[in-house]
Amino acid sequence: METLPRPRPPLVLPPFAPIPELDMVAYERMAREVHLLLGIDLSRYRPAQVWRRVNGFAAARGMLDADELVIRVREDVALRQAFLDMLTINVSEFFRNPEAWDALAEQHLRPVFRSQASVRIWSAGCSLGFEPFSIAMLAREIAPFAGVEILATDVDETSLSKARKATFTEAQMAGVSPTRQRRFFRRIDGKWQVRPEILAPVTFRRQDLVTDPCEGPFDLVVCRNVVIYFTEQAKTDLYGRFHDCLRPGGVLFLGATEVIPNARSFGLLPAGSTFYKRP
Ligand SMILES: C[S@@+](CC[C@H](N)C(=O)[O-])C[C@H]1O[C@@H](n2cnc3c(N)ncnc32)[C@H](O)[C@@H]1O
Repeated sequence: METLPRPRPPLVLPPFAPIPELDMVAYERMAREVHLLLGIDLSRYRPAQVWRRVNGFAAARGMLDADELVIRVREDVALRQAFLDMLTINVSEFFRNPEAWDALAEQHLRPVFRSQASVRIWSAGCSLGFEPFSIAMLAREIAPFAGVEILATDVDETSLSKARKATFTEAQMAGVSPTRQRRFFRRIDGKWQVRPEILAPVTFRRQDLVTDPCEGPFDLVVCRNVVIYFTEQAKTDLYGRFHDCLRPGGVLFLGATEVIPNARSFGLLPAGSTFYKRP
């Protein structure tokens, strides 16, 4: 007698592994390794957020937990880079939140250039260079003959070495108007290269905002979308240092959703959304 094939059991896909609860012993173990391998001090970052992202990163690559991830990161250079990119989230773009950049140009940069022959600016957490080059373009448009110095710092050396190349893909140019593309970029081998007059004012340097001192005084400090995972204490320390390294009348420019609730306690006055001024 012909035997009927047995019905296959229904295909059950494994659910996404839930993110394990924050285990501070395992977290400290991972943080020590991150410090050793990547030079990043996680002690001033919010553990719950970092833990969620680290475990999400591990699970997406089929790993069991943060311990397995650390072991693999020790040996695999490409994975180490991806891990570093994930930890530091170097997402950025030219003129990110354009309305804020318009406000920066009209309400803050134009008056500074009107009253000073030279201006010093710090792009703190500059990622791949979109931010300092956006500042350099604005400065050139507002005051083509003024002296401009832009210090661009980041904790991630790999981002900095890409930034120093000052070359961008078509997709990365989305925030740059055709007029600015023609004026400030050259087309080389299908990519967009920043022209020397935009590159020249920018100095890239590795610096950890949590541990390293500031190099003021500055007329403008731009620190956007960097402190999201910092602890409240790390933010408090940083805002105090930003105040100290701003010249009187200098301006701090934060990310679109970032607010300093008690700005006056740092000696800073709100000056329009996402801007703070040292009186
Ligand atoms: C999301 S990107 C923001 C880039 C740019 N500021 C913007 O708004 O488009 C965050 C950058 O902050 C840097 N970063 C994170 N922690 C830092 C730290 N402790 N010190 C300096 N830079 C840091 C990262 O490496 C990354 O390049």
